[in-house]
Amino acid sequence: MDKIVIAGGQRLRGEIQVSGAKNAALPLLASSLLSTGASTWHNVPNLNDVSTMGKLLRRLGCEVSSASDATADGQDTLIIHPYRVEKAGFTAPYELVKTMRASVLVLGPLAARYGRARVSLPGGCAIGARPIDMHLRALEAMGAQISLDHGYVDLSVPHGRLRGSNIVFDVPTVTGTENILMAAALARGRSVIENAAREPEVEELAIVLNKMGARIQGAGTAVIQVEGVEELHPIEHAILPDRIEAGTFLVAAAIAGDDVLVKDCRPEHLDAVMAKLRTSGVRMEIEEGGIRVFGNRDLDIQAVDVTTQPHPGFPTDMQAQFMVLACCAHGQSVIKETIFENRFMHVPELSRMGADIHIDGRVAIIRGRRPLAGATVMATDLRASASLVLAGLVAKGRTEVLRVYHLDRGYERIERKLRAIGAHIERVEA
Ligand code: EPZ
Repeated sequence: MDKIVIAGGQRLRGEIQVSGAKNAALPLLASSLLSTGASTWHNVPNLNDVSTMGKLLRRLGCEVSSASDATADGQDTLIIHPYRVEKAGFTAPYELVKTMRASVLVLGPLAARYGRARVSLPGGCAIGARPIDMHLRALEAMGAQISLDHGYVDLSVPHGRLRGSNIVFDVPTVTGTENILMAAALARGRSVIENAAREPEVEELAIVLNKMGARIQGAGTAVIQVEGVEELHPIEHAILPDRIEAGTFLVAAAIAGDDVLVKDCRPEHLDAVMAKLRTSGVRMEIEEGGIRVFGNRDLDIQAVDVTTQPHPGFPTDMQAQFMVLACCAHGQSVIKETIFENRFMHVPELSRMGADIHIDGRVAIIRGRRPLAGATVMATDLRASASLVLAGLVAKGRTEVLRVYHLDRGYERIERKLRAIGAHIERVEA
């Protein structure tokens, strides 16, 4: 297994490019199943999770071909044609789903267009149980018949086509909202989704479905209305930038940078993160091409409290990264994780580097300005691994981050991007 090795203490200067959003690419690629022909996706991030989704779509009877864009950084273009789904068996197998729980996003499209799906239950993951009960209850309300069979969700639609329904989620669920949006787009009649997730990636999916011919209103708010249509046609679309990757780079620049431009991100998707960074004293300017961060050598970052919330609140996917900022801040910060039950696995690793963090249930109390020392640390999940890289940038000495396959699920060539702005960081093939 590869590892990432960092010599801390280098200052970051220059421009760092944000890639297409993982959490937009996954539902968008799955939405290809809904259309009658080949859809073309630009700015597709080169990530393990995206290639897993490609494998899954091939397994489901899609032709998935890639073409490198003419753009400088060779962002990928994927063309996906669901040409033989009817003959491929509608099955998302455990060996694929266990590596990427977002595979569950094929459930809605398969139910809506083909009336059949056999999708392995994703099982838990490092950060929590992460059930999909809300997805399944909503699909049943739309007329799907669902049974659990040997770890698989076995879905059929007895009357051939889902019917529109009123869906109220107990809590906002991002992929749950995305699954039901895709299901409702082709259902008979009207659906209303209440307590819907408001993440920008949900809004992006609705924009794409409407481009395909769907009739969706209200995406990005807590109430989304969908009038089902008979057919959706293929489209061409460029995937929006990754706000979590961008937020990760903002924190890197805040703690280790002098002058860094985080390029091609959408500031409007980072309101909560930028508000907290400003409160902690980080100076940023929004520019034409992105967000410029003026880090400070004497690190006069002030402690700030954070509670993770569904969008537009502070994103849980930025919690681990923000903890490293808190380690560098003057004073005590309190970070509360309200979305997932076990998302503090980066804490023991940061503590091994000298961080002073006390956990009490879902609350972490961080006493800042403890000098961090490089160490060999273990990545446990995607965003935890990103926080260990950030800590390595400011720690004294050498940090080795093991099990970087977690990192590769959501960050495209992060070591190359950080090295290009001055970090002493490299990937060592194991
Ligand atoms: C999406 O996961 C993201 N993944 C996650 O990003 C992100 O952390 C999460 O939303 C929360 O923002 C993708 O978009 C591919 P949820 P998702 O359904 O949809 C509970 C990353 O780092 N719940 O919004 O799986 C659930 O346990 C990943 O990129 C149910 O109880 O999350 C959680 O407590 C990690 N039953 C809460 O709802 C359900 O049926 C929100 O989860 C569904 C969810």
